[in-house]
Amino acid sequence: MDKDRKNIMEYETVALDDEDSALVIIDQTKLPGETELIHLHTGQEIWDAIYLLKVRGAPAIGVAAAFGIYLLAKQIQTQDYEVFYREFRKQKEYLNSSRPTAVNLSWALNRMEQVCMKNKEKPIEEIKGHLRAEAIAMKEEDIRVCKAIGEHGLTLVKPGDGILTHCNAGQLATCKYGTATAPIYLGQERGYQFRVFADETRPLLQGARLTAYELYASGVDVTLLCDNMSATVMRNGWINAVFVGCDRVAANGDTANKIGTSVVAAVAKRYHVPVYICAPTSTIDMNTATGDDIVIEQRPAHEVTQMWYEKPMAPEGVKVFNPAFDVTDHDLIAGIVTEYGIARAPYTESLQEIFARKETSGGWF
Ligand code: MRU
Repeated sequence: MDKDRKNIMEYETVALDDEDSALVIIDQTKLPGETELIHLHTGQEIWDAIYLLKVRGAPAIGVAAAFGIYLLAKQIQTQDYEVFYREFRKQKEYLNSSRPTAVNLSWALNRMEQVCMKNKEKPIEEIKGHLRAEAIAMKEEDIRVCKAIGEHGLTLVKPGDGILTHCNAGQLATCKYGTATAPIYLGQERGYQFRVFADETRPLLQGARLTAYELYASGVDVTLLCDNMSATVMRNGWINAVFVGCDRVAANGDTANKIGTSVVAAVAKRYHVPVYICAPTSTIDMNTATGDDIVIEQRPAHEVTQMWYEKPMAPEGVKVFNPAFDVTDHDLIAGIVTEYGIARAPYTESLQEIFARKETSGGWF
């Protein structure tokens, strides 16, 4: 790797370009080898970038979609609200179809649609300005939310602790700090000297390519593990807590996150290690009753059989099962860390309390 390369932590995961005409993202499929910023202008380019995981991680997908729908709305040439709104909805549904599991995608797009509806009496140019402001607000909010998750998460661990994480719920999955990594970064600033273990996270290697990369670049003591090693490090007594992110939390606390999370959680229960889910309230879906109701994205076979290898590593034509996420049952979860505090079992009650706190705070974030 090029020693003169800028530190990955200095890049923005998601941004608008200076001309206000493109969504700029780091192409995460090329990390850690290459840092390539790509400019996306069309609906198809934005859809592809989300589907192909060039931008990924629930909060980052949401913010990318918000900027994306703003840019697409900006291209709609009409002064007629009904015509504008019809086209907006079409583009919104299209972006929303790029990935099914992370609720942040539809959450962000719905929030953008609300902006159109609330301002329907205003001139189209003004509506476009409001959409831009909302997307920027969402990005700034994401940073504050992640930081608050970090502060709450930090109360669950102590200096010198061993922390295991799965997938990438880091800065590259958000606009800053990450969710599961936020306590780690805040602890790092305060001299906590955590020992972090990052699962490589088959099949797309977000743990190896992204989490190990960003933690290492930040000077955190990080050790990379293959996915089948979590029992060994837990049995060795090296892990005090598991922190992971999530793509959708159901009303009963069941949580969808990157495939393999539920295995880590089951092993953690065996070794009495608490598992904490770091979840902005934008990832909690009170309209989904349980994990059984969460749509799990299925991905193509080649991600398992040959992507990342020089040559195919499975017989041609073999059947492949490749779900992108799994559901961790709520009874395996010690706490759900949100920007409004930590929810504990029974989650059907505590998650409602979190939303009540959000309501009464008047949406401070
Ligand atoms: O398929 P990905 O890379 O988008 O999956 C990402 C995860 O599963 C993350 O843990 C989750 O989105 C939370 S990111 C703060």
